[in-house]
Amino acid sequence: MTGTGATPALELMGIGVRFGGVAALDDAGLAVAPGEVCGLIGANGAGKTTLFDVASGVRTPDAGRVLLHGRDVTRWSPHRIARAGLRRTFQRVQTFGWLTVEENLLVATEWVGGGGGVLADLVGSPTRRRREAHRRERALEVLERCGLTALRDRSCSALPIGTARLVELARALVDEPSVLLLDEPTSGLEAAEADRFAAIVDDERTRRGTAVLLVEHDVSFVMGTCDRIVVLDLGRVIADGPPAEVRADPAVRDAYLGVSA
Ligand SMILES: Nc1ncnc2c1ncn2[C@@H]1O[C@H](COP(=O)(O)OP(=O)(O)O)[C@@H](O)[C@H]1O
Ligand SMILES: [Mg+2]
Repeated sequence: MTGTGATPALELMGIGVRFGGVAALDDAGLAVAPGEVCGLIGANGAGKTTLFDVASGVRTPDAGRVLLHGRDVTRWSPHRIARAGLRRTFQRVQTFGWLTVEENLLVATEWVGGGGGVLADLVGSPTRRRREAHRRERALEVLERCGLTALRDRSCSALPIGTARLVELARALVDEPSVLLLDEPTSGLEAAEADRFAAIVDDERTRRGTAVLLVEHDVSFVMGTCDRIVVLDLGRVIADGPPAEVRADPAVRDAYLGVSA
């Protein structure tokens, strides 16, 4: 619970992760409210991706807890956490290259449990067919919103990076996540592509109240897109506040912004 009394969509508390002698995360914590876009910044090796791995269940922390809408999911599998509403994109894009753009979106919905199970598959139940139809509709709608409709039948193996990142975002959005984690989403994108990406994310949080946590190196992108910024330095949170406040923080300047701000 935060001071305002609302339950955060995602809350990480006292997270510790060690790799051998290295503390990748040390008592790290943050909370993201529904409808909030929170930026996570910090130098290379600060622990940003490790924090995402912990939040999405890919890595179990050595210390601390992960709460999703107030529920403790610290030891849940990534699959179960995804079903509970958290989706992510990766620092290195991970689309299924052997599938088309549209198929990548349909697979996503299937993965989170399009519904009915094996028995429904066998008997082709009406519930199953209804969900199937809803899924296809939803996929088409997201393709349209991401400007990917014309590319829906293209194979994902040969897409330029900007398009591949949009496909990955679209795939995350198909299941209407309540929490969205984006790891360096604009890396490799041109300015216009990054703007489009930001507009889609902003639209999603406005329309659906999605909580967004994004890792980003482009300081101007972060400052312009995020409501709040958390700064990690050597596995610890050294600042957490509105962009202007974080930007003016001397400790942040020393640790991270020094060169670019
Ligand atoms: N699988 C791993 N094995 C050993 N060390 C790792 C592993 N993943 C990350 N680290 C180390 O943990 C620290 C944090 O890494 P990472 O979370 O990738 O940082 P960031 O995403 O902020 O660049 C770094 O010191 C990195 O070398
Ligand atoms: Mg990283």
